[in-house]
Amino acid sequence: MAAALPPFLLAITLAAAQRIGTAIPEVHPKMATQLCTSAAGCVTRQTSLVTDALSRSFHAADNMAVPCATTPLNATLCPDAATCAQNCVLEGVEYGSIGVLATGSAVTLRQYLFDGSAFKSVSPRLYLLAEDDKNYEPLKLLNQELAFDVDVSKLGCGMNGALYLSEMDMSGSRSELNPAGAQYGTGYCDAQCFTVPFINGLPNLNSSGSCCNEMDIWEANSQATAYTPHTCSSPGSFLCDPSTGACNKTTGVCDKDGCGINAFGLGATSFYGPGLTVDTSRPFTVVTQFLTADNTSSTPLVEIRRLYIQDNTLIPNTATTTNAAVQKLPGGYAGAITQDYCAARGAKDFTRLGGLQGMGESLARGMVLVFSLWNSPGDFMSWLDGGGSNGPCNATAGDPKGIVQNNPEVSVTFSNVRWGDIGSTFTVSGGGGAASGANASAAAVAGGSGSGKGVNAGIQGSGSAKVRVGGGVVGGIALLVGMIMVL
Ligand SMILES: *[C@@H]1O[C@H](CO)[C@@H](O)[C@H](O)[C@H]1NC(C)=O
Ligand SMILES: *[C@@H]1O[C@H](CO)[C@@H](O)[C@H](O)[C@H]1NC(C)=O
Ligand SMILES: *[C@@H]1O[C@H](CO)[C@@H](O)[C@H](O)[C@H]1NC(C)=O
Ligand SMILES: *[C@@H]1O[C@H](CO)[C@@H](O)[C@H](O)[C@H]1NC(C)=O
Ligand SMILES: *[C@@H]1O[C@H](CO)[C@@H](O)[C@H](O)[C@H]1NC(C)=O
Ligand SMILES: *[C@@H]1O[C@H](CO)[C@@H](O)[C@H](O)[C@H]1NC(C)=O
Repeated sequence: MAAALPPFLLAITLAAAQRIGTAIPEVHPKMATQLCTSAAGCVTRQTSLVTDALSRSFHAADNMAVPCATTPLNATLCPDAATCAQNCVLEGVEYGSIGVLATGSAVTLRQYLFDGSAFKSVSPRLYLLAEDDKNYEPLKLLNQELAFDVDVSKLGCGMNGALYLSEMDMSGSRSELNPAGAQYGTGYCDAQCFTVPFINGLPNLNSSGSCCNEMDIWEANSQATAYTPHTCSSPGSFLCDPSTGACNKTTGVCDKDGCGINAFGLGATSFYGPGLTVDTSRPFTVVTQFLTADNTSSTPLVEIRRLYIQDNTLIPNTATTTNAAVQKLPGGYAGAITQDYCAARGAKDFTRLGGLQGMGESLARGMVLVFSLWNSPGDFMSWLDGGGSNGPCNATAGDPKGIVQNNPEVSVTFSNVRWGDIGSTFTVSGGGGAASGANASAAAVAGGSGSGKGVNAGIQGSGSAKVRVGGGVVGGIALLVGMIMVL
């Protein structure tokens, strides 16, 4: 992002003392999604994607080479929020240069791009914008389900291709001092309450953390997958004060560990992976249902259920577990997240901060859909796929140094994202092949839509899109971003 710009572009920015930069226009990649009802089927919506504010050039208005989002903040540029807003501008981004390619209803994210001499990490994070192209799309998923197709075949150990929800402000906390708002990807928050240099487009002058409810629908590579609700004590997007312990794990306002299900971690070691029941060497469909006590939106969330579809066959999440506490659940373990399951897992912070009911209230208010691809130099993502207990990956397989050296073309493709009434986002003809272990009664519980009114649950576009990113043509000016893609 800090690519040197030709002098004539610097001259343009010199005159631009405003809060939205003018050097690079912001053109959101279009990615169609679908909204589904049991009554009327699925309707396509012209939604788009926007990258996070902090993955852009955020620079001095009079000098593109001086960054604003530094740690610590530059006290000359940003002594206070109002001065900072005068002095700093948030720039557009050429999406190819951050490893993002969207076509039709699919988006491919790449971790690394070749700059001519080496692969550089770009690790994109994207938010779903509404049809107005200005505000985030509010997903209100209590008593609803969300489905998408995914190709994780190119994600090995240590990679995390994620699709999740955060209770961000739908305008990106747009304000007088943050006129850009969601159009420029401001307002990010999650249950880790990260301390970042800018929060809601404003300088973070007191080391606050940026907190909100988070529902991790999908964190995965080809070796392991987890889905995990993380609750917070307050609704919406809010700050935590580190001097009080509010940003801490055990005394804090958000549940950092969450209450998740990772089938491998529970002992189902042959359910998810290349050639396994859910065959990750090929695309498949992921359905997540947010079920309430009486299947209306007026009662609390009581279950988060996972289903897979592959080869037109429904595959319920595995109910296999070797965890003694989970085996002893009243009624047994059905492969779903319930409050009893969370108690059995000892998810104390989750329960302390609202539990499934709190997560359901957040889902009812509306959350923002996030796509990201990342890896982790600190822990090699072993909490997701490693150590022999969370997944099959060995202790060093997830080291980003090894990934970039041996497998730099890691990517994930998400497609056909749709949501709506329970049972409205998919149809299957197979209710349970021998391979899945599902059977007709399990399929009857999960399905519900008659043929002809659901969307095509098959895979369209996944994995077929050739990724071509790099020098983009911006406003008629060829902007050399120096990123050359390897097909
Ligand atoms: C801080 O901002 C000033 C004013 O733009 C600039 O001259 C200086 O180089 C910046 N400092 C750093 C460390 O970037
Ligand atoms: C930190 O600053 C923000 C504004 O940037 C403010 O809303 C918040 O109350 C401050 N926190 C403390 C503890 O002063
Ligand atoms: C928790 O917060 C307190 C401030 O109240 C701080 O002194 C302490 O070091 C924090 N503990 C951890 C484990 O981060
Ligand atoms: C709600 O719907 C789900 C999915 O169709 C079903 O499994 C469950 O039994 C229903 N719950 C109630 C209370 O009817
Ligand atoms: C760990 O896994 C990586 C990648 O799968 C492999 O190259 C390496 O040899 C393994 N190391 C050990 C000690 O097994
Ligand atoms: C199908 O699953 C139900 C519920 O788990 C079980 O009671 C039934 O015996 C199964 N039927 C077959 C044919 O496997």
